Amino acid sequence: MNTKIITIKEGDCLKEVLREAGDILKAGGVVAFPTETVYGLGADALKTDSANKIYEAKDRPADNPLIIHISRFEDIYAITSQVPESAKRIAEAFWPGPLTMILPKAATVPHETTGGLETVAVRMPSHPVAQTLIELGGGFIAAPSANRSGRPSPTLAKHVTEDMLGRIDMIIDGGAVGIGIESTIIDLTINPPQVLRPGSVTVSMLEEVIGKVAEDNTLLTEDGQAPRAPGMKYRHYAPWGELIIVQGEPDLVTERINREVSKAHAAGEKTGVIGSSQMLAGYRADVVKSVGSREDEEEIAGNLYRILREFDEEKVNRIYSEAFESQGMGQAIMNRLLKAAGHKVITVTEFVPESEKERSKE
Ligand code: TXA
Ligand code: MG
Repeated sequence: MNTKIITIKEGDCLKEVLREAGDILKAGGVVAFPTETVYGLGADALKTDSANKIYEAKDRPADNPLIIHISRFEDIYAITSQVPESAKRIAEAFWPGPLTMILPKAATVPHETTGGLETVAVRMPSHPVAQTLIELGGGFIAAPSANRSGRPSPTLAKHVTEDMLGRIDMIIDGGAVGIGIESTIIDLTINPPQVLRPGSVTVSMLEEVIGKVAEDNTLLTEDGQAPRAPGMKYRHYAPWGELIIVQGEPDLVTERINREVSKAHAAGEKTGVIGSSQMLAGYRADVVKSVGSREDEEEIAGNLYRILREFDEEKVNRIYSEAFESQGMGQAIMNRLLKAAGHKVITVTEFVPESEKERSKE
């Protein structure tokens, strides 16, 4: 398949430059487009074979449901069978924006789109390109992140090209996305409502609007229970090399990472570190990358997936990462990082003196 790439320039009339993309969607094709969270892979959500095309392009398991993107609140009524008061309040507070709601589905939505479920995920993105494209494409666009299954979600059009060239009809290059991690998902079909995927809209922000919100307790642990969002069970966002998170006091973390790096070097491996700007100077790996300031979670979210892809490109075998706060937006960052690492975490509690190091090697 020949994939057409179009680039949005400042001052473009979006309705004009996106007309062809809208026509492709209406004709049943697949178009990748920027949203404020990550790039999405869009197709008409109400056509039964669209989901299959998306799954095929992504190599995605068919039980993994898609989010339907809308551009006007009232369109929610066409795809859901019940809109509770809480959904209206959440929409008022966070739409358009990085928030997805799970609601009972209407008969108009094919089971192919919902992965066989009786519920449907709905989001209204705030990115102007996404909004205009949804409108021109018929109003109901199913869109997972535009990566091949198992790769980090794309935050630049170049990432989409790497994964999707030749597999879809069009890629719209709208520059870097704003947020960098996927939307928060809240399930409103249960009481209390439950966050199934943490994102930049945090539990406490949601609680301010609708009261008590629960969290899927499988999100930051790995206890064998299946998460309620089917997609969360897969080892997403996996880098090519092995990723290990090291947590603890900053000095201990630096010391431990450097020690692991020396061991990996001795074994002939290429090493990398994902560090905060505050701690970067202390590392001795082959490739050391700053994910941002520890005090700026938005910066960290914005850099994380790009950095994971860069380590792939540079063929780094072993990557060590600092851990980040597991509160607020930090919870979303840690959730993605833990998944990328397959939950491999080293917790350092004490300094290993030089004399002990030799012995611990044996
Ligand atoms: O920020 C985002 O949400 C991006 C952009 C493109 O909008 N999209 C995205 O889609 O992250 P995707 O397909 O990569 O992730 C959708 C997640 C999956 O974990 C899926 O299992 C879950 O949403 N999901 C979708 N429908 C669901 C449903 N009815 N019940 C529970 N989970 C659902
Ligand atoms: Mg995804």
